[in-house]
Amino acid sequence: MTQDDRPIDGKRQSNDSVKLDYALRPRSLSEYIGQERVIENLKVLIEAAKSRKEALDHVLFYGPPGLGKTTLANVLANEMGANLKTTAGPAIERTGDLAAILTHQRASDVLFIDEIHRLGRPVEEVLYSAMEDFVLDIVIGKGPAAKNVRLKLPRFTVVGATTRLALLTAPLRDRFGAVFRMDFYSMAAMEMIIERAADKLKIEAQPEGVTEIAQRSRGTPRVALRLLRRTRDYAQVRGAGIISQEIADECLSGLLEIDPLGLDDIDRRVLLTIIKNFNGGPVGLETIAASISEEADTIEDVIEPFLLQLGFLERTPRGRVATRRAYEHLGLVDNRPTSIQQPPLF
Ligand SMILES: Nc1ncnc2c1ncn2[C@@H]1O[C@H](COP(=O)(O)OP(=O)(O)O)[C@@H](O)[C@H]1O
Ligand SMILES: [Mg+2]
Repeated sequence: MTQDDRPIDGKRQSNDSVKLDYALRPRSLSEYIGQERVIENLKVLIEAAKSRKEALDHVLFYGPPGLGKTTLANVLANEMGANLKTTAGPAIERTGDLAAILTHQRASDVLFIDEIHRLGRPVEEVLYSAMEDFVLDIVIGKGPAAKNVRLKLPRFTVVGATTRLALLTAPLRDRFGAVFRMDFYSMAAMEMIIERAADKLKIEAQPEGVTEIAQRSRGTPRVALRLLRRTRDYAQVRGAGIISQEIADECLSGLLEIDPLGLDDIDRRVLLTIIKNFNGGPVGLETIAASISEEADTIEDVIEPFLLQLGFLERTPRGRVATRRAYEHLGLVDNRPTSIQQPPLF
């Protein structure tokens, strides 16, 4: 299986339906399921901005892929009655590209910059003063004839999203008035999200079937929606079109090889490598990546956050360590001294 068709990968995949994605996206804060802490905070921000009749403060969302960062950017714009312009770090190659975007912003518009950690440094520097002082400092012309020009911009809002907060420079991070970490969703929230999606897609799913899907979705809505569609297809071919517990289990465990905690073959290989080749760790991320021929980025973005969440992996100053729980989940005996089984956190 290649990384691109891992059903439990939270990143968007080429065969995810854009139309469905759009249809299933919550549009307002009241429709939004889960992330209660973030939602509460956003409500206050929005109300405060509205009562002052000002543009919303700049907002940054960070967390693993598929948890709703893009969705929340859309919800924020909706709630503010603002226009949303969407772009991404790698798409803004030159300062001129950013200048073109910014000069088209109107007062209170929301500019959503996805993968904001991938902005080039010169572009980022132009963004600083745009965000802080709502001015655009650009250089026109080259050589001795070059001129610095300062343009005033209307008050607008930047919503940034990143899977890697650590890669954001401090000055850029500091320009966001509010920074929110997105957590994995609870089981209850996942079940609600799946039920609602099944309803909208007119899929018949029994509560036990929904629970099977929710358990394997890694607390990630994008994964849940994908697994729901895969299970629906399976139910139509092998069952009576109804997602029962049995059908869901057959499809998810049997066909897709996703275990009851949501781990697939690649997750298990990461854990097994640490355990078998490196005696449980500590071992560096790059070394793990090389041993299983995966990209270190993928491990850090998609695989590791969930293994950390499950308590199967610890990050220590000397590298990654598999915990006793990981051994138990894989049916292996952990003979390491207790001090290694529960490494100190940093
Ligand atoms: N709270 C939620 N309720 C229902 N669906 C959600 C929720 N959060 C995200 N989704 C769905 O999950 C998918 C991924 O969300 P998205 O906002 O694109 O994640 P991210 O930008 O963090 O990668 C989308 O199809 C979206 O409709
Ligand atoms: Mg996104």
